[in-house]
Amino acid sequence: MYTLVYKSLLIPSTTIMHLDAIQILSSLQNRKFRIRGCLYVSRPYVLQILQGPQDDVDRLYQNILLDRRHYSVTLMFLGEYKERVFAQWSMKKIYITENKLRTRFVELVKNNHNQDLITDIVELALISPDW
Ligand SMILES: Cc1cc2nc3c(=O)[nH]c(=O)nc-3n(C[C@H](O)[C@H](O)[C@H](O)COP(=O)(O)O)c2cc1C
Repeated sequence: MYTLVYKSLLIPSTTIMHLDAIQILSSLQNRKFRIRGCLYVSRPYVLQILQGPQDDVDRLYQNILLDRRHYSVTLMFLGEYKERVFAQWSMKKIYITENKLRTRFVELVKNNHNQDLITDIVELALISPDW
């Protein structure tokens, strides 16, 4: 399954309300484009995994790159991954505040050469509450 993972930094004025709006739009648009994924936020860090048809994922990423609500958008993984990891979510969202989870998340975001990146981010989704 074609998979893209990126990280970015939220601008300070991007509020929870903006993120909720992004989520509502995403759940509609992503379903239309057969994209599935998960958006993790722990201020100022964002990490998002997108899976779906290559053209749709690439097109969405071009939009995301231009979005002024965040910056320093950096690709962490692009290519085939063995499975669809968030099959039932057009865009699952996870807001990480709890200290232990945040430490794990920040490690993930800061470590650019993580072989098990996708396994680790799926695991984080399983143990984190939705927002
Ligand atoms: C952190 C972040 C994540 C986003 N994730 C998605 C997403 O999964 N799906 C989506 O359609 N838009 C997402 N957006 C919004 C897009 O950047 C863009 O605003 C949206 O695709 C609308 O583009 P359009 O007006 O050309 O249709 C995200 C924006 C940000 C800042």
